[in-house]
Amino acid sequence: MDTTLILSAGILLGCLISLSWFAGSDAPYVPTKNERIKKILKLAGLKKGKVFYELGSGDGRVVIAAAKMGAKAIGIEQSWIRIFMSRWKARNLSNAKFIHGDIFKQDLSNADLVFVFLLPRGVERLEPTLRKSLKKGAKVITQTFHFKNWIPYKKILVTDKNNPNTLLGENQYEGEFWLYLKS
Ligand SMILES: C[S@@+](CC[C@H](N)C(=O)[O-])C[C@H]1O[C@@H](n2cnc3c(N)ncnc32)[C@H](O)[C@@H]1O
Repeated sequence: MDTTLILSAGILLGCLISLSWFAGSDAPYVPTKNERIKKILKLAGLKKGKVFYELGSGDGRVVIAAAKMGAKAIGIEQSWIRIFMSRWKARNLSNAKFIHGDIFKQDLSNADLVFVFLLPRGVERLEPTLRKSLKKGAKVITQTFHFKNWIPYKKILVTDKNNPNTLLGENQYEGEFWLYLKS
């Protein structure tokens, strides 16, 4: 009886952790392909000393790549499991920081570059906030789902032979990045 109870509790806990791993209010967890990260950060002009934010930083891979390029890189993520994992992965990088919280409650006024990979509802909610709060000259990268009104200065389909771009809808590719400049 005791063993059955412990086993059931273990299975329940496992299910909750698995569900929590993929959950996200403005997008579920879907990571950016590793091979595409450095390419897009370079194309967006990320350099040493720049302040980089990732809104919904998942397992931390984009923030870590930005920190390795010399940026002061900050990830904001609402899942405590992903925050824990990101902090562990970045334990030797003093210029990478992860904040457990809501992307809509952060001050981004010092950002030079912001990376966004969220579902349309999250991207739509973010557009007016970013247009208002970012400083002049700051840039934003969106992936797959983009701003409706803010006109990008560049659209890039990042391809690599290991990860062909998947067509998700009419003219809409996974692996397509749009770049915006706050004027
Ligand atoms: C599509 S995943 C992208 C992960 C990562 N940016 C990447 O490109 O590999 C979206 C992430 O945003 C997080 N997220 C969604 N809504 C959020 C919110 N309101 N505040 C903080 N994080 C959020 C989710 O938990 C998830 O990890």
